[in-house]
Amino acid sequence: MTSSQMRAVIAGTGRFLPEKILTNADLEQMVETSNQWIMERTGIKERHIAAENVSASDLAVPAAKEALKKAGMKAEDIELILVGTSTPDMYFPSTACFVQAKLGASKAVAFDILAACSGFVYGLTTANQYIASGMYKNALVIGAEVYSSIIDWEDRTTCVLFGDGAGAVVLKAKEGTAGILSTHIYSDGTKADYLQAPGGGSANRFTQQFLDEKKYRLEMIGNRTFKVAIKMMVEAAQTAMKHNGVEASDIKLVIPHQANKRIIDMVAKQLGLDGSLFYMNIEHVGNTAAASIPIALDEALKEGRAGKGDLILMVAFGGGFTWGSALIRL
Ligand code: ACO
Repeated sequence: MTSSQMRAVIAGTGRFLPEKILTNADLEQMVETSNQWIMERTGIKERHIAAENVSASDLAVPAAKEALKKAGMKAEDIELILVGTSTPDMYFPSTACFVQAKLGASKAVAFDILAACSGFVYGLTTANQYIASGMYKNALVIGAEVYSSIIDWEDRTTCVLFGDGAGAVVLKAKEGTAGILSTHIYSDGTKADYLQAPGGGSANRFTQQFLDEKKYRLEMIGNRTFKVAIKMMVEAAQTAMKHNGVEASDIKLVIPHQANKRIIDMVAKQLGLDGSLFYMNIEHVGNTAAASIPIALDEALKEGRAGKGDLILMVAFGGGFTWGSALIRL
């Protein structure tokens, strides 16, 4: 049973995907790959790609506006803006500050969360702590990514995987049994080199050699990441269920990070959960990193896959390594 207390409740969701679609057929023209390989190994058919003059905050703003509208709130009412992104507009100011300015959310404190594909679950965790402590009464948590800006379009092992987009959630403090019941987040920096975008930071400055070696691009040891992702997503989901005394049959919907259909299928199998509980939109959006879970959540809710009182389990994994879960009652 869930006791009544002050919780962060989902009051609205939104998403935004750039118009341009890059299909597997397009990629066949760019690198040595095939629609069959991409579909069989990843489940991805197409992904959305932002125009070159479009930044993460540009994608975040329409997603946020939609979430605010759904929540019946004005931007000026928002007290906290967190943007999960690993493709920020620039090193600083934070992408969240650009979002704050573009929305006119003048009252909000704004900062970014950098946890690659786990950025949204990390953001939810952070916002939940501020709301539970009473420091803020509401928060706008966004995942926004322009991975096309750090992809090596000549590297077939990564360029077929990622897409651009943004998803947003408005959280409101409310007494009752609905809201975020728990979050569990984890990190393992010893595996940083399995998945990284090393260029341009203080460790790897923008020298001509760095640019020539394309070190500003994303690098991933895919098959090693694959195995760790499954193990950690299963553990994080099990921890959430155990912590809340929840059985598989209590869960209405699982929103997993959309990195690979095979990862999601394996996680479902190892958890002993019916695959149909797992929401999947990877076919049409690819891996949108921190934006993946809030985009999928918004789609799922608009499709009516879960409603008031239902339990939703989110589970993420990404570079860092970082991973985590969140259990939410709508
Ligand atoms: N088209 C055709 N062949 C390809 C392609 C491609 N696009 N990409 C790789 N291959 C080849 C490889 O070169 C290799 O060939 P070889 O056997 O001759 O050497 C073969 O396919 C198998 O390569 P693997 O890397 O072992 O393939 P795998 O089945 O592991 O699939 C993938 C690769 C899709 C990347 C998978 O490993 C994966 O999804 N990894 C996890 C990704 C993930 O979870 N990331 C975390 C979140 S992302 C974030 O945080 C930013």
